[in-house]
Order: sequence, then structure tokens, then C-alpha cells
Amino acid sequence: MYIKSTVAELMNVLLCATCISVVLMITGCSEEVEYTTCDGRNKVKVAEETEGQDLADTLMAQWKRENPNRNWVEEEKERHELKPPADNSSLLKGEQGEGHIYGNYTEKDLLMWQRETEKLVVEGSRIFHSAQLLGSQVSVSCDMCHPHAANTHPETYPKFQTQLGRVALLRDMIHWCIDNPVRGEHLAPDDPRMRALEAYIMAQRSGTMMNYGKH
Ligand code: HEC
Repeated sequence: MYIKSTVAELMNVLLCATCISVVLMITGCSEEVEYTTCDGRNKVKVAEETEGQDLADTLMAQWKRENPNRNWVEEEKERHELKPPADNSSLLKGEQGEGHIYGNYTEKDLLMWQRETEKLVVEGSRIFHSAQLLGSQVSVSCDMCHPHAANTHPETYPKFQTQLGRVALLRDMIHWCIDNPVRGEHLAPDDPRMRALEAYIMAQRSGTMMNYGKH
């Protein structure tokens, strides 16, 4: 049981559980165990009785210290303000009757929806703020003209755009800006980067009333 839960925790911290070697060390009268991860670089000493969550937390803290750039979602959220996705906690408060499509969801489901949704939005934020990821030939990123996605007005689409001479969707204007001011790489409408940019821009206008066609 101990081994089982420890292994599960270790998987959580992205360590290769199967190749963890444990070296027993005797220091004074308290016994410590040294864990070495499979990359051979991470070593952390913990009291022998440490297990489960505490052990996972210690290893995670160590891993974060040694890999400061790996948690890109948290990093991007710290760097650029992001609106959080809608709060769905009312779904768990019995307001959804038996047999309702949302009737049987749990806190874990809600957390998973939130994380996955946020991940796409955060990916969009990363691209929006990076001339490199946009493939710009002139080192220009979207935030230079639209800080925090300002003046992108996703709630006004579809609308007639005079530059294009037709009714445009949000992604058509994203395209226009990639092609013109940014001089970036041409993206297909279903390109993962286009989807992420659209997700980020819409997320930033959360709470704004839809008003298509508005100039
Ligand atoms: C050099 C400045 C500049 C950069 C960089 C830029 N834009 Fe724009 N963007 C504009 C201008 C100017 C307009 C207004 C065009 C118009 O509606 O006449 C605009 C309009 C838009 C609109 C439509 C806004 C509306 O009111 O309907 C969206 C969406 C948009 N940009 C997204 C982006 C994205 C995404 C990027 C990065 C890929 C980007 N822009 C980069 C200047 C810029």
C-alpha cells in the first residue's frame, strides 16, 4: 500500500517512478532516505517516514527549483493577466436534478474542465505575446497594439469589415493582423495556433455582451 501510493504520487510529479533508486543513509540518529530520479540529477533527502503527499510535495518542490521554466501554464498566468473561466460550482449544489445532463459531475470534473479550458487560453496568450511563435518577420507581436487583447472586440463578430470587403469572423481579422502588421506565418483557420489565439481573445472579453455587427 505504501509503495503503491508513493508510486502514484511520484507519477504526479513527472518523475519516472520505476527508475527511482533509494539510498538509505544514516545521519546521526535520524534516518534519511535519498531519492534519485531517472535523469540522475534530482536528488532529495527526506526523513525515512515521509510518504504519500509529503514525499510528493518535497520532490515537486525540488523539481520546480531545478526546472524553473517547465511549468508554462503557471508562468504565463503570472506574466500576463488572464480572466478566469466561468465558475461552475453551482452544478455541484444540487441545483441540477437527477437525470440532468450535468447531474452526475464531481468537483474533479469541474477542475478538469477548468484546467483544460485555461490551458488553451494560456497557450493563446503565449502566442499573442510572442513575435517568434507568430513567425513575425518584423519582430511584432499582437500585444504591441492590443495590450491584454484590448480593441479586439470579439463580441462584435460576425461583422462587415471594409479591409476585407466582406463579412468577417473573428479569425478572419486575426488573420488580417497576422498578414499585415505582424507579417507572420500564414495560419489555416483550424491551425492549433489560430484556435488558441481565438480562445485567448474571447476569454479576455468574458462578461461582455455579444453584439454582432457592431462597429
Ligand atoms: C501594429 C499594430 C497591430 C498589431 C501588431 C496587431 N494589430 Fe490587430 N488591429 C490593428 C488595427 C489598426 C486594427 C483595426 C482594424 C480596423 O478595424 O480597421 C486591428 C484590428 C484587430 C481585430 C479586430 C478588432 C475589431 O474592432 O473588430 C482583431 C481581432 C485583431 N486586430 C487581432 C490581432 C491579433 C490576434 C494580432 C496578433 C496576431 C494583432 N491584432 C496584431 C493593429 C494591430
